[in-house]
Amino acid sequence: MRRNILSIFGTRPEAIKMAPIVKALEADPRFDSHVLLTGQHMQMLDDVVQMFEILVWRDLNVMKHRQTLPYLTAALATQISDALAELQPDMVLVHGDTTTTFMGALAATYAKIPVSHVEAGLRSHQKFSPFPEEVNRMLTDQVSDLCFAPTEEARQNLLHAGIDTSRIDVVGNSIVDAVHMALPHLRAPDMMSKVRPGSPMVIITAHRRENWDTGIAIFSDALVKLSSSHPELTFVFPVHLNPVVRETVFGIAAGLPNVVLTDPLPYFDFLYLLEHCAAVLSDSGGIQEESVTLHKPMLLLREVTERPEAVTSGWVKLVGQDEDLIVSSFEHLVASGFVVLGADGVNPYGDGTTAVQILARIDDYFNATH
Ligand code: UD1
Ligand code: UDP
Repeated sequence: MRRNILSIFGTRPEAIKMAPIVKALEADPRFDSHVLLTGQHMQMLDDVVQMFEILVWRDLNVMKHRQTLPYLTAALATQISDALAELQPDMVLVHGDTTTTFMGALAATYAKIPVSHVEAGLRSHQKFSPFPEEVNRMLTDQVSDLCFAPTEEARQNLLHAGIDTSRIDVVGNSIVDAVHMALPHLRAPDMMSKVRPGSPMVIITAHRRENWDTGIAIFSDALVKLSSSHPELTFVFPVHLNPVVRETVFGIAAGLPNVVLTDPLPYFDFLYLLEHCAAVLSDSGGIQEESVTLHKPMLLLREVTERPEAVTSGWVKLVGQDEDLIVSSFEHLVASGFVVLGADGVNPYGDGTTAVQILARIDDYFNATH
């Protein structure tokens, strides 16, 4: 009997990390795969869906300009519930820690549909950092029947949260599967014409809600300083479409000769840049895992991280919102020729078989329960 699995996602990082799982479900005769896009993101989501050629059952298109958390939460609760009532899947898959993640899991729970949480168990242990992601993942883990933890650290967090060991599997992170799928397709994007030949590239991104008040301005000020003291480097900053982020970044860092501010790049273009860059400065979750996977030094523009294994591996260094620390840490990287001594080659996020492991566990779940 084929099981009907509904994958629900709505933002760029969820789509990237769900793509390998959805492609595996589409190809597997044990399952009928359906995808419900919430459309929490629009352009940034569509890029990924097209690139991985994901078959979409329904797109709720909930995104509004400058949407608020209460708006998103309410819209998602009712619209996901309506879609579940129509499709009546055997299981719902959600990913990560966005508002789509938690509302997908909650709506499925209200409909008494089993929930699997991909990338379960990440914790910063600080309620408001990152915000609202820490709360979303705690709540999602609690209502999930299967928790797919990427690492042993994440499994320990789930056990401490009182989640029974029988609900937890350590399967690596599907970002590694996604990187493996994408690497053979990477080609230099058009925007590379803005990077002076031979000039080492530094990639920058920032978007976290808890950095809106001061953090993003501090990073932008640091960028102004670093780009002026290092004319030999090119700083490429694909600026998130969130208007709060754009106003700050363009207000401070536009017009600098060796800084390229672009719109968000399609995933394969962005990965090309990552593969060819010297270093990364970012507050992103997923880019921490990609930096470790591609062996790129990254300065993490946050006070805490839910990805301690990225720091332990040596590739990621926490620099918070301290402009002096950002600048001095970057100078240290430059002085070392962007070589991180002692950084580990073993990938804590696995070997790119996360999707296969997840499908096997879901199959076991149905064989055991039905
Ligand atoms: C969201 C997630 C965050 C995740 C991030 C990944 C929540 C609350 N936040 O943050 O966890 O790390 O995505 O990028 O779930 N916009 C567009 N086009 C797009 C996408 C966004 O115009 O394709 C603009 C819209 O004005 C939108 C705003 O950005 O209202 C904010 O989008 P939203 O999803 O609420 O928050 P993000 O900051 O993107
Ligand atoms: N990314 C992308 N284009 C860009 C910037 C980032 O495709 O211009 C990808 C990046 O490779 C990573 C993901 O987006 O896989 C991270 O998304 P984001 O930082 O928005 O969210 P987070 O991971 O912090 O939740």
